[in-house]
Amino acid sequence: MENLKSLFIFLLSILFLSGTADAGWREECNFGGNAQFNIIHARPYLSTLCPSSTGRQICTILDLSYCLMNSHGHLIATINGHFERSCKDCRLTGANATILSCGCRMFGKNAPYQATEVDLECFITIGQPGDMGKPLPRLWNKDPGSMLFSHGAIEGRKAFTLLEMKSTLVAAFIVGGCLGPSNAKSLWSRSPAGYGPDNSNEYLLKTGYPVGNGKLGVISFGAPVSEKLNLNVDSLWSGGPFESSDYSGGNPTESKHSALPEIRAAIFRDGTGGLSPLLGAGEHYGSNRVLGNVTINIPELGSYSDYKRSLDLKIGVHTTQFTSGEAELTTSLFCSYPDQVCIYHIKSTSALPTVAVGFENLLTSQNLTTVTCKGNSVQLTGYTHADPSQGMKFSAVARTLGGSASTSCSDSGHLVIRPSKAHKSQAVVIAAETNYDQKKGNKKAGYSFRGQDPAPVVSQTASKAASKKFETLYSRHLNDYQALQGAFQLELPDTRHSSEVETAALFSNYDWTGSGDPFLESLLFDYSRHLLISSSRDNSLPTNLLGRWTERIESAWGADYHANINLQMNYWGAEQTGLAATEDSLWNYMQDTWVPRGTDTAKLLYDADGWVVHNEMNIFGHTAMKEGAEWANYPAAGAWMMQHVWDRFEYSQDIDWMRKQGYPLLKGIAQFWVSQLQEDWFFNDGTLVVNPCNSPETGPTTFGCTHYQQLIHQVFDNILSSADLVGDKDKAFLRKVATSLARLDTGLHFTTWGGLKEWKLPDSYGYDGKSTHRHLSHLVGWYPGYSISSYADGYTNMTIQDAVRETLISRGLGNAEDANAGWAKVWRAACWARLNDTEMAYKELRYAIDTNFADNGFSMYTALNPPFQVDANFGLAGAVLSMLVVDLPLSYRVNAERTVVLGPAIPAAWGNGSVSGLRVRGGISLDFKWDENGVVTKAVTTSSSKSMRKIVFVNMRGEKLAEA
Ligand SMILES: *[C@@H]1O[C@H](CO)[C@@H](O)[C@H](O)[C@H]1NC(C)=O
Ligand SMILES: *[C@@H]1O[C@H](CO)[C@@H](O)[C@H](O)[C@H]1NC(C)=O
Ligand SMILES: *[C@@H]1O[C@H](CO)[C@@H](O)[C@H](O)[C@H]1NC(C)=O
Ligand SMILES: *[C@@H]1O[C@H](CO)[C@@H](O)[C@H](O)[C@H]1NC(C)=O
Repeated sequence: MENLKSLFIFLLSILFLSGTADAGWREECNFGGNAQFNIIHARPYLSTLCPSSTGRQICTILDLSYCLMNSHGHLIATINGHFERSCKDCRLTGANATILSCGCRMFGKNAPYQATEVDLECFITIGQPGDMGKPLPRLWNKDPGSMLFSHGAIEGRKAFTLLEMKSTLVAAFIVGGCLGPSNAKSLWSRSPAGYGPDNSNEYLLKTGYPVGNGKLGVISFGAPVSEKLNLNVDSLWSGGPFESSDYSGGNPTESKHSALPEIRAAIFRDGTGGLSPLLGAGEHYGSNRVLGNVTINIPELGSYSDYKRSLDLKIGVHTTQFTSGEAELTTSLFCSYPDQVCIYHIKSTSALPTVAVGFENLLTSQNLTTVTCKGNSVQLTGYTHADPSQGMKFSAVARTLGGSASTSCSDSGHLVIRPSKAHKSQAVVIAAETNYDQKKGNKKAGYSFRGQDPAPVVSQTASKAASKKFETLYSRHLNDYQALQGAFQLELPDTRHSSEVETAALFSNYDWTGSGDPFLESLLFDYSRHLLISSSRDNSLPTNLLGRWTERIESAWGADYHANINLQMNYWGAEQTGLAATEDSLWNYMQDTWVPRGTDTAKLLYDADGWVVHNEMNIFGHTAMKEGAEWANYPAAGAWMMQHVWDRFEYSQDIDWMRKQGYPLLKGIAQFWVSQLQEDWFFNDGTLVVNPCNSPETGPTTFGCTHYQQLIHQVFDNILSSADLVGDKDKAFLRKVATSLARLDTGLHFTTWGGLKEWKLPDSYGYDGKSTHRHLSHLVGWYPGYSISSYADGYTNMTIQDAVRETLISRGLGNAEDANAGWAKVWRAACWARLNDTEMAYKELRYAIDTNFADNGFSMYTALNPPFQVDANFGLAGAVLSMLVVDLPLSYRVNAERTVVLGPAIPAAWGNGSVSGLRVRGGISLDFKWDENGVVTKAVTTSSSKSMRKIVFVNMRGEKLAEA
């Protein structure tokens, strides 16, 4: 009843606020229509008023459609292309511009809450907080929509509302850019997702549309009669202390660093060498694994037609729609971060059929799992290993929410939901957890990683969620999801009318040698942000090699964390698009699982201070090296990750966070490297170099790998930039960093053929020839890093640009025999963009999409062949952002204004597009748009700089557009 009551109060308050007759309001709207909002009603539900917690009067969010969608007590609207077009030139700006009130009014033929068609009118008022109570122009809808009430909830019926915005007051706040929580796009298909073999086009990870809330990841597949949800929970892993009680994260039982002097001497003598005494093994490393399927059987359905499924990236909801007999059915699936559950909802235009919900895990030995059905819930509990005292325990529960359905348990352990005749919708909440505890990965906790029994935890989580109404859960999800998805918008013209085309057909029609498809390109950009929001939140593990979506017990590469490009690439889109909230998991994961064991590893292998990790990490603190030097000897992983820490600080200017979490991580890595750098006895040039090192996954064990030198340059510079800010009084350490930096070889060397060198070793040793290797490790300081592009002034230095270009040309398109992977291509695209080479950047981006992206938008590892690896999905966002902006940090040595280039590589195919919500270093956000040639013509900052440094925004022609 609560919602009915609030709706009623809401209606009253509208009458009260307006206090005038219908006609009077309309006459207020007598200004020239400067903007129109064409709101296509999508899913009306009772929801909380605007804003949800503090009553309806003030939406301080300068965001019209957010308010519209969440404020009316009932309207969940989708703003369509018309809005987008006419909204190009409108934006509420000014720190005090506020949506003072907003609401909708209904006119029904019958009394409310009886089934009736109603007319709907909406308005908003915009002004400044001081204007409260003054008469203000209202913005009215024009064409009443039509809604249908039933059961007190409002069922949507092609409600169509045109809200015309006509107000000089409003016009005063309107300047460039676009409003809206999001106009992200949808993926859709006319056939259900499959579960075929992984080399077929019916493969789950090539057809299914993923949702998630960070911790949980779900993909729906199968026909409506027997739909299944592939369910993942972040921490469900084999291996580690749950498999072997003396698991050590790969660390040796005694120190090995006494081998180092000899290893180093040999390398300085011969140029290359080996480090086998330091190598380790990956025993009990484990793998992230699927929890099981939630099965949803609706036997009465029989045949179905008019099937459509879609993933709406505006709201993070997966929907299926189909007709069965006379009935039209809709199912929705989303995972809610605020309520920590996934929610499956089914509704019908007729009485609901009986639905049977169950759990299965067909891939694990049946004596390890138990399914129990009781009352209104069904629960799966299991262990990863035979011995329950050691195996990781996991548990998942599905239970009904609200409704008047009767429930029973079938002999086969299914929860059978029998709706009453009047019952047209039903929701089921799903929760899952394991007994893994990331906070127990330290010496004090005996590196046990063992937490509490998940079975009662999931029951509680599910019943807590089930005590809320579906509409409440839904609107809580929307508020959370849209705040993230809506923080950034990339608008590209849909020149090919692709929004009307099934997503799979967009991929099959896509031809990289042709002109591309701006719609698909921006769809994949929005998708990348959806995937990050769905797989990485503050209470989850970071997004792994498969995001949060595996269907296996043994996943490719264990679905682990490879930190020699892949983990980094997963977060390329986060800072610049307002998704910093997705990074908390990354900081916590490093702090809780890398630092404790990694401190031991630093001591045992290197006799070093600080901490170290290598290339491959699980969730149990595997920080030592695995078997093969070429790929396992990678102590630079932490240094690369510190770029993300530095960016977090620069973009947010959050000194408090830096002091507490960022700087301690950074300092540990700097301590490691000041203790490890060696004077270069090969060249005897007095510089400091790393020895031993391997450039990621290629070449010899040697010294002075330029990739490492560039990253260490960044780490040291970052320390010197921030030590004062965070109040680091450790003079001895800071002096060491400064003197090490002064002598550091910064990893910028040229090959005889004009490219950048990957190894300091002379070319005559035969390693630095032209190569099409997948990695671009020696360009790390160019992109995504900045030691070359900024600290060495590479972005403005022709010599360096030429060398980067030669290197990129030699590396090819990223399709060599070693791996035809998507991540290799999007990295290349991003590097080309940093050269302001629009043609090559866009070409490489198109090539990646054409070659590696499957029908569901997931990127595959070898052309379109499995495994799925999520990094290229995220790297695509980085590549696009690199085409949109060059926003480089300056070295601690430089005290000058900073220039940010907008649109370094925007192709004409994206002509007349725009961006809103771009985050820039210094804590600024910015909207900008470009002309038909991709030249940025207008930029407006929408928040002011939190840093002292002045910033000038210019376009490709060097024309100044804004400053902050
Ligand atoms: C916003 O309002 C506050 C308080 O009225 C005032 O101090 C401030 O200058 C205003 N800011 C702008 C940008 O108008
Ligand atoms: C999920 O369902 C599919 C299709 O029926 C099946 O092949 C697969 O083994 C199931 N997965 C699990 C974990 O049970
Ligand atoms: C469970 O089944 C497996 C074979 O599938 C067997 O090896 C194991 O001993 C069984 N464990 C128990 C506890 O029965
Ligand atoms: C460009 O960079 C190269 C390599 O660091 C350097 O030798 C050269 O002096 C730079 N050119 C200019 C104009 O600064």
